[in-house]
Amino acid sequence: MSGLFLPIALAGCGGPQSTFEAAGTESATLVTLFWVMFAGAVFIWITVIGFAIYVTRTHPQAHDERSGQRLIVFGALFPTVVLLALLSWGLTLMPQFRGPAEGPAIAVSGERFWWRVAYNVEGEPGVVKSLPAGGVESANEIWLPVGRRTEILLGSPDVIHSFWIPALAGKTDAIPGRVNRIVLDPTRPGVFNGVCAEYCGDAHAQMGLRVVAVPPEEFDAHVRRQAEDAAVTSGRGAELFLKNGCGACHTVRGTPADGAVGPDLTHVASRRTIAAGLLPTNEANIAAFIRTPAHVKPGVLMPSFGMLPEDEIAAMANWLGALQ
Ligand code: CUA
Repeated sequence: MSGLFLPIALAGCGGPQSTFEAAGTESATLVTLFWVMFAGAVFIWITVIGFAIYVTRTHPQAHDERSGQRLIVFGALFPTVVLLALLSWGLTLMPQFRGPAEGPAIAVSGERFWWRVAYNVEGEPGVVKSLPAGGVESANEIWLPVGRRTEILLGSPDVIHSFWIPALAGKTDAIPGRVNRIVLDPTRPGVFNGVCAEYCGDAHAQMGLRVVAVPPEEFDAHVRRQAEDAAVTSGRGAELFLKNGCGACHTVRGTPADGAVGPDLTHVASRRTIAAGLLPTNEANIAAFIRTPAHVKPGVLMPSFGMLPEDEIAAMANWLGALQ
């Protein structure tokens, strides 16, 4: 039976969210660490089982005291030596994870239940909003320059989340009231999935993010584009957005909407997904989210706007869908 399930289990080891398909310096080190530890564990296991077979099957007769004592001493020494060797080697890898970063930092804050992102961050993120002033804000999608070690400053305004992009690096907690640091160093371009790896509330399992690793020039151009005002700042959709109070929670730069509770929507249509990795970005999904956010994401802070006339929702979704 296990032979049936093995291919299914192994199929889960690939793809954009795989630790085994390392696309970053840290994750490559972690994969090596995993396989060496795994080999060490297999080595110990086979040896111990070998001894068990030796004393019970091959030589089941009573051993004299001396050879019995030798076996016990060996049984204690052997795992100690192997585990010590693995531990000391593992410890030598740790400084690699704390190397210096280049370029401006990116701040990432775990929110309910999405990721606030800010590029070009200088200085420390604040404790309440978790992000410093001056950064270029986005959400749920982080672009990274390939081959440039970029520092991520992690925070959270309320509960603990864990920031994990398996293809790039290990997990790091986002803890309220402090700033944790992690350096991401993608080694090849690609789109990778990230998740929240610490139970944080209703939509913990729906708190994904995308990482887009691109060549440095492309990254710089992307951040410049994200810093610009919204592509469309007037029209019926924009007016309805403001009239219905959406601007109290969302910012759309170039319009009076400057709320800080929800994701910055200035370039929402440039992102691959809405609702933190849940739905592909398109007008229909934006409209569905406006109608009943809680159907898409349980525990979301945004109230439902299903009481609005359908044509108003469509107009707002049409406008947001144009904010490249
Ligand atoms: Cu955020 Cu789990």
